[in-house]
Amino acid sequence: MEILGLDIGGTGIKGAIVNTETGSLITDRQRIPTPEGSAPKDMADAISKIIDFFGYRGAIGCGFPAVIQHGIARTAANISDQWTGMNVNKFLTDLSGSPAFTLNDADAAGIAEMKFGAGREYQQGVVILLTIGTGIGSAIFSDGVLLPNTEFGHLQIRGKDAEQRASDAVRQLKEMSWRKWALALDEFLLILEGLFSPDLFVIGGGVSKKWGKVAPFLTIQTNIVPAQSLNQAGIIGAALYAQDQVNRSG
Ligand code: BGC
Repeated sequence: MEILGLDIGGTGIKGAIVNTETGSLITDRQRIPTPEGSAPKDMADAISKIIDFFGYRGAIGCGFPAVIQHGIARTAANISDQWTGMNVNKFLTDLSGSPAFTLNDADAAGIAEMKFGAGREYQQGVVILLTIGTGIGSAIFSDGVLLPNTEFGHLQIRGKDAEQRASDAVRQLKEMSWRKWALALDEFLLILEGLFSPDLFVIGGGVSKKWGKVAPFLTIQTNIVPAQSLNQAGIIGAALYAQDQVNRSG
């Protein structure tokens, strides 16, 4: 089936139509910068532009940068507070006239990587995927099953959220060297390794393209690889999620 996948982030709103059987994009990816302040009414315009660009009618899957419980946003760490408590499924359905299914953005990326990417061979055991961008998102799978909304980016490290120490936004803001940033990431990974004994870490987000500059500084014992679908995993996973929801309701 072909489903529109959206990936809403703190800096960009991205979308493409996805073939959910192969996990490939069947259109180019469209991207619009997230409007300043990311208030729902401004985001509505940007999201509509993407949907209208594709002239799309049909189920929509959407990855959103917050805890999403049954379609409702429960947090708003890197987006406007006005989203907290909003039913994002209803918001998108009202906007598009199509049924919409929302999940956490990192959970979406994780679903794509487990099915078609770096986690494919790890259907047994524990996999942790981290998306490193404006914030740090997380997804954890045990024997291929997702435990949603884990929010490891807000684990406390020496009195600060992990994402305030090791996000890509912090790396750029503080002009950190790759070595310095890798050591901050390593500190975070060591905590996760101690808590969950994963079989694999998968790292998504822009830094996955610079993995060669990061990997040499890591001291963890666990296998760690960059995400394979790079900046498309969120879109693909959102579409897979929508497909699954449609199947369940049908
Ligand atoms: C949010 C998460 C999100 C992550 C990546 C964090 O600040 O709390 O829900 O997955 O950023 O966008």
